[in-house]
Amino acid sequence: MADTLTEPPVFIPQTVIPPDKPLPMVRGLLQMIANPLYVWPKAMYENPYHGVRWIGRTFHYFRQPDHMKAVFLDHADIFEKSPFQRRLVRPAAGDGLLSAVGEHWKFQRRAASPAFRIDALRAMVPAFSTSAQETAERMKSAGADTPINVMGEMQHATLDVIVETILGGADPGFAYDAVAHSVTEYIETMGKPDMFDMFGAPNWIPRPWARRGRVAAAGLKKAAVDAIGRRRLSVSQKKDLLGLLLAARDPETGKGLSDIELRDNVVTFIGAGHETTALALTYSLYLIANTPEVQDRLLKEVRDVCGDRQIDADMVDAMPFHEQVIKESMRLYPPVAIIDRMANADIDLGPVKVKKGDLAFALIYIMHRHKLLWENPERFDPDRFSEERSEGRTRFQYMPFGAGPRICIGMKFAYMEAVAILATLVRALKFRPNPLHRVEPNIRITLRPEGGMPLYVEKR
Ligand code: HEM
Repeated sequence: MADTLTEPPVFIPQTVIPPDKPLPMVRGLLQMIANPLYVWPKAMYENPYHGVRWIGRTFHYFRQPDHMKAVFLDHADIFEKSPFQRRLVRPAAGDGLLSAVGEHWKFQRRAASPAFRIDALRAMVPAFSTSAQETAERMKSAGADTPINVMGEMQHATLDVIVETILGGADPGFAYDAVAHSVTEYIETMGKPDMFDMFGAPNWIPRPWARRGRVAAAGLKKAAVDAIGRRRLSVSQKKDLLGLLLAARDPETGKGLSDIELRDNVVTFIGAGHETTALALTYSLYLIANTPEVQDRLLKEVRDVCGDRQIDADMVDAMPFHEQVIKESMRLYPPVAIIDRMANADIDLGPVKVKKGDLAFALIYIMHRHKLLWENPERFDPDRFSEERSEGRTRFQYMPFGAGPRICIGMKFAYMEAVAILATLVRALKFRPNPLHRVEPNIRITLRPEGGMPLYVEKR
């Protein structure tokens, strides 16, 4: 109803077209490895739930807010991190904050939390803007006639931000390019659904095809150990995340984080903290390149609020339309498109009976495009996230950051960072579409566009 009142741009962003019917089993399994989005049929975007019995347990495919609330909040103690997720994450990030469970998780979450308090985040905004300005300069020099892979640029920008804000600042010993390359290698190899997992093989059975991923993981761990070593030798007493982790003590035992826990968390924050935000920005740039009217609104907002000044925290707060664009971009392309859990006990969710050992898949991508939940779900319409139109919408219908106790610790960080970077870029550059490139998101660990995101970029 509100769609016609606010006259949003009618742009239907590209994505994978789901099959009309479920695929036959063998084709389905092969496609699942190539890209799960090709396996999930149209009906999944129209009906609320289905479960599949497979090798002795049920796979529950959830895509409605009440199920999300049950899994992530009401029964978070029953739905634990699944062995799939741990297999994906642990080779690189060990038992850092993302994959740890129980008391070990609680201790690490407590230790890291002060670095994400609002005052700490507000102080980081100049670092976000500086990284964005450097990115804009790099992109300006590329020339307007050749498309630029903005995904690579966004990864560069957000990795700079993580090193600056989480590891305590420009570190000449940090091998940026090698780390960015290892993250990509890891995601592209380890991030694929694994045939052995689908057949219930335990994690200890070797997966020879994962060798490239293990090499990448070793590279990331080494970069983390070296960064910690350099920090220990320096006199810095910074209260950034690394400083906090080095100083953390368990209130009961008085013990600090071991060297391995420190390393695992540095890898966790490098990985979780830059890839996802880079994707949110990458898809935002694609969307605004195709909707000049949205791009103009962003430009007007940043000029009105910031003029030519470097963007600070107050300015970020005063640019709600930028946040709306980023939210809508993450609705259409949630960087974490699926979140999985395993039940450690039987539980009834209304008519859905979950048994101990069953797997729960929260299909965020499908929920964000579900016909029962969104009007014209396939349309890019940032005004859906205006205050007025968000009223009455449950927060479990929109979950790019997960929900409940394991909700992303970096959520506010990511919003502030993405707004500061988007505003800086829009003020300096004009983004134009690339008609020769088809956008095809693919679920790896994150939702990456196949072949990157080449767009035309012009200096303003
Ligand atoms: C747009 C950007 C981001 C998205 C979409 C995103 C998404 C997510 C999601 C969905 C989870 C929950 C996973 C689960 O429940 O299994 C998560 C957890 C996490 N994220 Fe983010 N994230 C983003 C940015 C960041 C940033 C900037 C940081 C750090 C600087 C970060 C660090 C983490 C960590 C450490 C966890 C694990 C938290 C815990 O289990 O206690 N993320 N993120």
